[in-house]
Amino acid sequence: MITQLAEWHGRKSRIPFDMFALARSADDARRAGKLRHIYHRGQDLAWDGQEVLASLLAKHGGIHVPPAKARALGKVFEMILWGELAAWKVSAELADELVPLEAKMAATAQAHDEARHFYVMYDYLQALGYTPTKVDPFSQRVLDLVLGARRMTHKLLGMQLMLETIALTIFGEVRDSGVEPVLCELLRYYEKDEARHVGLGTQFLPTLLRGERGIEAAETMLFQLRLVFWATASLKAMEPDLHELGISAHHLNERGKEIQTKAFAEMWAQMGGTPPSHAAVTRLLDGVDAAMFPGVGVDVSVGERVKRFFAAARAPIATPA
Ligand SMILES: [Fe+2]
Ligand SMILES: [Fe+2]
Repeated sequence: MITQLAEWHGRKSRIPFDMFALARSADDARRAGKLRHIYHRGQDLAWDGQEVLASLLAKHGGIHVPPAKARALGKVFEMILWGELAAWKVSAELADELVPLEAKMAATAQAHDEARHFYVMYDYLQALGYTPTKVDPFSQRVLDLVLGARRMTHKLLGMQLMLETIALTIFGEVRDSGVEPVLCELLRYYEKDEARHVGLGTQFLPTLLRGERGIEAAETMLFQLRLVFWATASLKAMEPDLHELGISAHHLNERGKEIQTKAFAEMWAQMGGTPPSHAAVTRLLDGVDAAMFPGVGVDVSVGERVKRFFAAARAPIATPA
């Protein structure tokens, strides 16, 4: 009787007892090996955030930037700060919900990294004299869209493949600008970690995407387009601050597309090639970029923007090296 009662309660369990019984293709097994490697690399390369930031501040004698630049840095990296918290939440959810062992391990390692990214960025902003409050509504939309996604596929696509690559792009541009030496050196630590997180996306998404059919695939495409739309609006809102830091939003966008294209190409290579829909999306993005980012202070009429959109959308698509 008690046995039956326990079994009745046990019909639904949060423990996936069949996780090792799942059928696996040779490709899935190879990618699982890479995901396991991501977990161990995360363990080997974990850095002490408190120690690193303190030593960089000592090395450069603190942070010395003019007030206007400090404010612009604060605004851009406040967006990164909340993005790190979003990444922490998403990776913790993935660590909980993904079933295959190696993907779960990689997501768990990422959650550990993102906790460090979040508290170190907060400490850096404090040292900069900037108090984080709230981001612009467009950047918030981007973060909320990924956090609010109901399907794990969308969370993984949105965070690991799209937002992580946007963060890598911003880090690269800020580092190249050399605007503030403490931050520029600190970002190297972030970049190494974020590259592993993109790896979780490129290695595990194929397994999830392959299971998608018809309407699900269309929903994923729509989700991606919504994210691109709000991310472009967020970049537009950030443009004056980037300009203050000596960074061109157009250049940042170009670099971002290149990094993202590489990540997507790596993922599609695992799935047997680039889908035809990709060319249409790339053309659309090239057009939006040309129309939206003529440069700060460059006055362009609506008619001229439309012309620029079509000219860029019709131009040959650049392929990543
Ligand atoms: Fe991060
Ligand atoms: Fe990350």
